[in-house]
Amino acid sequence: MLLIQLAAAAATPLAANITLDGCERKCGEVDVPYPFGTSYGCHRRGFKVICDRAYSPPKLFLGGDGAGLEVLGISVQNRTVRVRATIWSFAADNTSDVVVKIIPANLEPYVLSTDRNSLVIVGCGFRASARTTVSSLQLQGDAVIASCAPSCTVNNQQKHQQPNLCEGNGCCEAAIPTGLSSLSIHFSWLDTNAATVRAPWMTPNVSVLAVEQEWWRETPDIAFKIWLLSSGHVTGLVIPVVLDWTVGQSSCTAAETLPEFGCVSKNSECLNSTSSAYGYVCRCNDGYDGNPYVPDGCQGSRRNHLTAGVLVSIGIGIGLFFLLLGLAATFGTRRLNIRKAKKMREYFFKQNHGLLLRQLVDKDIAKRMIFSLEELEEATNKFDEARVLGDGGHGTVYKGILSNQRVVAIKKSRAVVQKEIDEFINEVAILSQINHRNIVRLFGCCLETEVPLLVYEFISNGTLYAHLHVDDPKKPLVWKNRLRIAFEVASSLAYLHSAATTSVVHRDIKTTNILLDDQLVANISDFGASRGISIDQAVVTTGIKGTHGYLDPEYFYTGRLTEKSDVYSYGVILVELLTRKKPSVYISPEGLSLVAHFIMLLNQDKLSEILDEQVAEEGEDEAKQVAAIAAKCLRLKGQNRPTMRNVEMRLQRLQGSDIDISGVEEHLAELGGPAYVGGNGEAGYNYSSRQYSMEEEILLSASLER
Ligand SMILES: *[C@@H]1O[C@H](CO)[C@@H](O)[C@H](O)[C@H]1NC(C)=O
Ligand SMILES: *[C@@H]1O[C@H](CO)[C@@H](O)[C@H](O)[C@H]1NC(C)=O
Ligand SMILES: *[C@@H]1O[C@H](CO)[C@@H](O)[C@H](O)[C@H]1NC(C)=O
Ligand SMILES: *[C@@H]1O[C@H](CO)[C@@H](O)[C@H](O)[C@H]1NC(C)=O
Ligand SMILES: *[C@@H]1O[C@H](CO)[C@@H](O)[C@H](O)[C@H]1NC(C)=O
Repeated sequence: MLLIQLAAAAATPLAANITLDGCERKCGEVDVPYPFGTSYGCHRRGFKVICDRAYSPPKLFLGGDGAGLEVLGISVQNRTVRVRATIWSFAADNTSDVVVKIIPANLEPYVLSTDRNSLVIVGCGFRASARTTVSSLQLQGDAVIASCAPSCTVNNQQKHQQPNLCEGNGCCEAAIPTGLSSLSIHFSWLDTNAATVRAPWMTPNVSVLAVEQEWWRETPDIAFKIWLLSSGHVTGLVIPVVLDWTVGQSSCTAAETLPEFGCVSKNSECLNSTSSAYGYVCRCNDGYDGNPYVPDGCQGSRRNHLTAGVLVSIGIGIGLFFLLLGLAATFGTRRLNIRKAKKMREYFFKQNHGLLLRQLVDKDIAKRMIFSLEELEEATNKFDEARVLGDGGHGTVYKGILSNQRVVAIKKSRAVVQKEIDEFINEVAILSQINHRNIVRLFGCCLETEVPLLVYEFISNGTLYAHLHVDDPKKPLVWKNRLRIAFEVASSLAYLHSAATTSVVHRDIKTTNILLDDQLVANISDFGASRGISIDQAVVTTGIKGTHGYLDPEYFYTGRLTEKSDVYSYGVILVELLTRKKPSVYISPEGLSLVAHFIMLLNQDKLSEILDEQVAEEGEDEAKQVAAIAAKCLRLKGQNRPTMRNVEMRLQRLQGSDIDISGVEEHLAELGGPAYVGGNGEAGYNYSSRQYSMEEEILLSASLER
């Protein structure tokens, strides 16, 4: 531990000034180091950036020739700036010549980074030749620098599978040569009849962009990105591209003599630019870190302050520590262990308690909810294996009987990771403020272990998943019960989303997190991943949490969390209730995910092909209405999905009324927007809604089928 801390300290540079005195250092979440600056006197020539406070948080944009390019990050060490990529998308036809300018011409002092970007072209049926008209290190004048001809046809095996790589089927990727600030793409159409032979997942549009390689290749879901690009559904998705920058227009040798020479910090040096035909960059000498473009910007890292003497003392200290440890082990193991255990308990209590108290609004509730470790050990027969109820995503759950004979479920995490502790604490904080008959009640927690133990109401009858996916011929849940459970889950989510000051997003809604009691009443559980969103926030950007098959693709790709992510997961549950198929493993014969297949069949008015037989027998007309609600919950854009409150109201009415087909239209109208299913099949569609849902279907198959 000591060593790790020392190592960490040595690697951290001392705080240094990143920009000139009196200049803006930060815009929103982006640092603004000199030579960049937002106001006169705060930047070098060409490095003006604009902080637009009309956004919340404010956004930074390049000024000058790069005006309009949103800055995602500036790195002085890498001499790069990441900006939001511009995507060129157009309908493919047999036009002979389309010229696309990837980044604005004359974007001095920036050039597209060679190492960090790729040129990506999505589409097929043409040969694309990238040309440059700007002179660079290797090229003079007009020259072809990259060329590819993505094919539209695929072999039978590939036909229904989206490609996982951008390798010439409907997509091609090329390297970007050194020194470019602009390039244009010339298209020559190979097959004027391309539309008839293209594979079903290829859309008829062409998109061109330069994109950060790391981002483009990072997730396995290239298919999803390819689809997003060709369909134009890229709003909200932040696609980065990396630009290199250089200061000055001359080599180091020439620049060093000029008054405006940029490498002004002590302990810095000048390097001739390698990314551009001219110019130079500065770096801090070895052993120094910081910004070489400001006076005293390069600061020695702490490592250098560790003198030999200090190191020797540390060495002696560590030696002594182990010696003492050895002695203790020999002479006092038992006593030490007892003392240590007590100390640890006190320590964990303090640490966890502190964390909890910081989150809890009501301190009295916090006090009332704390259990002692002895109490819980007694309740679970010292965490006997025989008492294990299940292993959830966030820990093991034991059945326990408290001294007052109350039966409880006690949750304990396996791993000792701070993140998990935070998740436990998070769960306590959220559940302690919640009171709803369809949400598992939290009685309290124990803070004396390294990972807090949580004590819940015991829900006797297992998970909805277990009730739904039964193997034996004994019938699973009858439709009436499924419908009621759907309503109860909707109602509890609506409650969570509309809590007074902080709306809670569950983030991991799935059938294994819905518990049923003796009367088959639903109780939602597992709030470890949940997040509160205060009303003035509306959106939070977070690390992605959730379960494959249930995860909202919009959230997955943008990291923007809203209540609508739960609405999506809820839609998946409706599909699961209707079809009795498992969302995280189902793959249709055509290779589609459950959601994609469901929506496709719904569009073709062939719902019965995927509907659970039992549901078809017991309530097909209601099922159709529920399917329509599911489709709305599963819309690509969160903002187009209904709220949980709205869904709750629909389901309530559906439960109350008997089968009423005439209600469908009204119902859909109230949910807003055009429908996926109408009472009379295809006739009710208008072209655009049909088109949109087809796109969604492709999207869903791409994002969910992994
Ligand atoms: C940052 O700038 C201020 C004002 O110029 C100066 O007093 C201070 O020493 C600088 N800090 C560092 C770490 O260079
Ligand atoms: C610097 O470059 C490396 C490798 O090219 C990259 O992984 C890293 O993210 C970059 N850092 C910044 C701040 O851009
Ligand atoms: C292709 O171009 C030719 C002439 O330029 C035109 O007659 C034909 O209709 C076009 N075909 C398609 C599919 O657009
Ligand atoms: C293809 O591009 C055209 C023109 O840019 C656009 O109007 C159309 O919506 C795009 N098609 C798809 C399927 O996104
Ligand atoms: C930079 O380039 C100039 C001219 O091309 C050359 O004379 C000089 O040695 C180079 N300096 C460094 C540090 O590489």
